[in-house]
Amino acid sequence: MSVLQVLGIKTDLIKPGDGLAASLEKAMAESGLALQDGDILVISESTLATAEGRVVALHDVTPGPLALSMAARYSKDPREMELILQESDEIMGGIPGVVLTLREGFLYPNAGIDSSNAPPGHVVLFPADAQKSAIKIRERMAKGRRIAVIIGDSRTHPLRLGCVGVALACVGLEPVEDARGQKDLFGRELKITRKAVADNLVSAAQIVMGEGDEGIPAVIIRNAPVSISEVQSAIPSIPPEECMYIGALRSGPRPYTGGYDHLILQAKEAAKDAYAPYSGFLVGAALLSRSGKIYSAGNIENAASGAGICAERAALAKAIASGEREFEAIAIVGNADEPISPCGICRQSLIEFGENIIIIMSNAKGDALTATLADLLPRAFTGKCLR
Ligand code: THU
Repeated sequence: MSVLQVLGIKTDLIKPGDGLAASLEKAMAESGLALQDGDILVISESTLATAEGRVVALHDVTPGPLALSMAARYSKDPREMELILQESDEIMGGIPGVVLTLREGFLYPNAGIDSSNAPPGHVVLFPADAQKSAIKIRERMAKGRRIAVIIGDSRTHPLRLGCVGVALACVGLEPVEDARGQKDLFGRELKITRKAVADNLVSAAQIVMGEGDEGIPAVIIRNAPVSISEVQSAIPSIPPEECMYIGALRSGPRPYTGGYDHLILQAKEAAKDAYAPYSGFLVGAALLSRSGKIYSAGNIENAASGAGICAERAALAKAIASGEREFEAIAIVGNADEPISPCGICRQSLIEFGENIIIIMSNAKGDALTATLADLLPRAFTGKCLR
């Protein structure tokens, strides 16, 4: 009978520029290990990233204004925050010390940037293209044998203490197995179960690898009950709205990380034309229509205070009067300490024209938050409710 084996490959410290495949082959030869048909080679992502030279000296990084303000908000090193911004597509939010980032459809803490297992004063970024590297390593190391290669990382599950394995890249086996259609113990068909085979293999590998100074950056998993094939496709992801965690939790403003700078600028300009002699509180709004045109206005106050109108609704009125009905985004700038929030009436006025309108809320300094209108006005009363 074949017994599942997890065999650690102990290596010398792997440094930038070291050929990873060659280093692993040398270490394996020294400990009398050789790859066999059916073997799965699991390599830690930080080792791959290090060998690829994705190591950055923090003193070479100059944080920009956004990195500085976000570093203060999340109690992080501003230089590390600069790298996080460069390495991620979106920042979902965070807690002191960690921000949750989105990169190419996956969630990572701090964009995968890690100071553990990096030389002092340095951090290791993610591998540039883990899937491509996995394919290359497999080509190089297979030598005619049927093997799979997985690049492994570790992650926590929401509200759980402790990390589990997660595959960043996988070649030579199906990373996710579809168990739908199989029967449960009572003969009922399984409806949503998919087995994260590659992730489970990484978890098994990590029992041997460890995370620290063990010096075991890779393992061979032997006799696993999975079939080795020629699969090269990337690890599959699901869209955020199908993810129960994101679907349930994604609401409320997030830090604005770019894309609408011109709109913010125009809102700032519009605030100069605000008529606010009573409050002295100048607000500007710039509304971007789907046609690409921008309509901007400041707030318009009145001696009879209830007759006043906010900047957002003034901009909206301009746009509607010009024949516009569909909008992409609105930027609002106010001379306040905190990024300014649209009032309840403006949220209601805007949602008439789409709950997905992106709201960018800014103060005069340029600190900004972003949210969709539906985030700011959940379960809104709209025309749909009347039907
Ligand atoms: N105001 C806006 O124009 N937009 C907002 O999002 C909040 C408040 C204006 C209304 C009033 O003229 C002044 O700010 C003080 O409430």
